[in-house]
Amino acid sequence: MPVRVKQLPSNPFRFGRIVSGDAFTDREADILVLQRELRDGQNVLIEAPRRFGKTSLILEVRRRLQADGVPVAYLDCMLVPSRARLADRLASAYFDAFRTPTQRAEEWVVQHLKAVRIRPTLSIDDHGHTQVSFEAASAGSTNLDALLEQLFQEPELIAKTGKKKRLVVILDEFQDLMELGPGLLRQLRAVIQHQQHVSYAFLGSRQGLLRKAVHDRGAPLLKMARPYPLGPLPKDEFTHFLQTRFKASGRPLPRPAIDALIDFTGGHPNDTQEAAHFLWEVALLPLPPDALVRTAIDRMLDAEAAQMTVLWHDSAPAQRSLLVALVEWGGRNIYSEDFRRHANLGAATTVQRAVQTLIERELVDLDANGVYRIKERFFEEWIRRRIVRGEL
Ligand SMILES: Nc1ncnc2c1ncn2[C@@H]1O[C@H](COP(=O)(O)OP(=O)(O)OP(=O)(O)O)[C@@H](O)[C@H]1O
Ligand SMILES: [Mg+2]
Repeated sequence: MPVRVKQLPSNPFRFGRIVSGDAFTDREADILVLQRELRDGQNVLIEAPRRFGKTSLILEVRRRLQADGVPVAYLDCMLVPSRARLADRLASAYFDAFRTPTQRAEEWVVQHLKAVRIRPTLSIDDHGHTQVSFEAASAGSTNLDALLEQLFQEPELIAKTGKKKRLVVILDEFQDLMELGPGLLRQLRAVIQHQQHVSYAFLGSRQGLLRKAVHDRGAPLLKMARPYPLGPLPKDEFTHFLQTRFKASGRPLPRPAIDALIDFTGGHPNDTQEAAHFLWEVALLPLPPDALVRTAIDRMLDAEAAQMTVLWHDSAPAQRSLLVALVEWGGRNIYSEDFRRHANLGAATTVQRAVQTLIERELVDLDANGVYRIKERFFEEWIRRRIVRGEL
């Protein structure tokens, strides 16, 4: 007799990577604006904290643009370790996006990269993707400069020869290009400001570098794109999304549990999905809603313990004291004598240095009301439970 295997329900919440399809919720208004702007030739700058859903959003915009016949190249600059690699990755991204299925690979390269002085080669990677690469590392820095300049120009030339009205280039985590040399973004600006057929989407999250890349006076990409700050997901839609998924996967949860979860994460997309993932695992325990959420967060902090411990270990004593003070006393008036005495922080200059370093490490932020906060909700909670309260 055949054995019937009961299929275990699977956890419907995804975090830590790009989401699409029915794992991606809302953002419809954002998608429509971004799609229209890019299609119409407007550069955009999407700025948001880490894990806010920038990449998932822009890839959805890319799908819609492609469906409208607009070719879109995508490059994640975080994964580009050198200028030589940037040349390879850009050319491969153009190749992927701008070649039509009927064109032979070699012909496309000859036809479209003909202006490039260093001849590219084609190879197939482990996933069967064709990669374009240059022997640029050995070409010397002047030649590499020239090569990059030609590659920056390439999309406009490809649009013209292909009789395309519009091409789009997405540079994800573009602020990381600042780390490949001071002149690189300036060189990019000099080229792309003349382009008529290419729109650029710049996506960024590292505030220190973003300031230098786009916001400071004299920044290379100052006023080159429409700023499009991305907020958390709207509470109502996110609540509905979570509730539906709990129910559809056979683990319906009362509304107060979901409200408590979103209150805890503040609607941060990744944190909320991560907390929901752990809440789903404990959802069948016979506990009241608030105890369920507390248990889920506890499990999540255990799972994240290694990462949290590294952040803690990498903090010097003055930084640790300040982190604890922010959790215990809040982040108002932290330089005042009162605050420093209560929190045992020592001299104001010590506090100043610690704050500066924590801001540079992107762990702490100064909000619009002049209050310092720990940026990562989970790290804050980890400090509260494990360090302040000493819970195991
Ligand atoms: N529209 C959305 N609907 C549901 N969940 C989302 C949405 N956008 C983002 N998320 C959640 O956030 C996570 C991170 O998304 P994504 O990688 O797109 O963000 P990011 O801002 O590009 O992150 P990073 O800073 O790591 O580049 C996803 O795995 C998912 O859990
Ligand atoms: Mg991303």
